[in-house]
Amino acid sequence: MPKGLSFFDPIIRHEVKEALEAGGEAYFSQNSEGTKNGLFIYDGYEATGTIFTKSREVFDHFYGLKPSSYIFSELEVAELPKEVWNIWQLDVDKAPSGHRFKHFVSMDYNVRELEQFMAATQPETNRRWVGVALTNGDRCFVVKIADRIVGIAWMTIVGGVARSHGLYVEPQFRRLGIMRDNLQARLIYLKSRHVHTLINEIAESNVASYSHAARAGEKIVGKIFLYTSPDHGTPS
Ligand SMILES: CC(C)(COP(=O)(O)OP(=O)(O)OC[C@H]1O[C@@H](n2cnc3c(N)ncnc32)[C@H](O)[C@@H]1OP(=O)(O)O)[C@@H](O)C(=O)NCCC(=O)NCCS
Repeated sequence: MPKGLSFFDPIIRHEVKEALEAGGEAYFSQNSEGTKNGLFIYDGYEATGTIFTKSREVFDHFYGLKPSSYIFSELEVAELPKEVWNIWQLDVDKAPSGHRFKHFVSMDYNVRELEQFMAATQPETNRRWVGVALTNGDRCFVVKIADRIVGIAWMTIVGGVARSHGLYVEPQFRRLGIMRDNLQARLIYLKSRHVHTLINEIAESNVASYSHAARAGEKIVGKIFLYTSPDHGTPS
């Protein structure tokens, strides 16, 4: 794909690979001159996809392919209802060190345990993705209490860029600093791998998550929009 299509350029290839291996689909589009101008990644289990393009025509084409779905795109389409998500970024090298941990954070490679936790807490996630992600080098940082996972964060790392996602803390363990500890553990890990940039997307309405990001020193660097494609047979 040409560079400059998306903020997520550095990790798109990785995302396509994981999506396909987890049973999803990926399509690219090209114009009449043969220039690639769009990419669409879609997971049928999650009924969720992402359209990477700067072209409205390309967006409309892919958007129309999958009814009744959640579709992310950095392209803002004025007339479609949408939820705004901010893209947050942290300069890993500038993050202060010297954090005092209250919880033990570890990297978890146990596919079964992670599948079960994801199914219980984030059931919309394609279960096949967990094994695929670990095989492709994604890292999963967990906090356990009484040997059970209570907080989790996934991290994709490609070159000098990391993307966090799937952050979750069990409701009864929130506001205890678990995710703050989890983030600090990820930062130590990223510094050791000379990764300089950490990004993650957060819905503008998710107060807990964006407060956590802001408090950690993350800055908003872009936006991505979440659209819902109409059901089959709904007049456009
Ligand atoms: C977002 C989430 C992961 C935070 O985890 P957590 O372990 O409770 O967060 P922490 O206790 O480490 O909080 C760190 C800081 O974040 C901010 N914060 C966390 N929850 C907050 C809330 N509900 N309201 C306002 N600020 C909040 C605070 O600044 C907090 O520091 P403080 O408690 O000293 O004031 C958790 O609320 C969660 O799992 N939410 C549901 C899933 C979710 O939204 N995931 C993020 C998707 S992008």
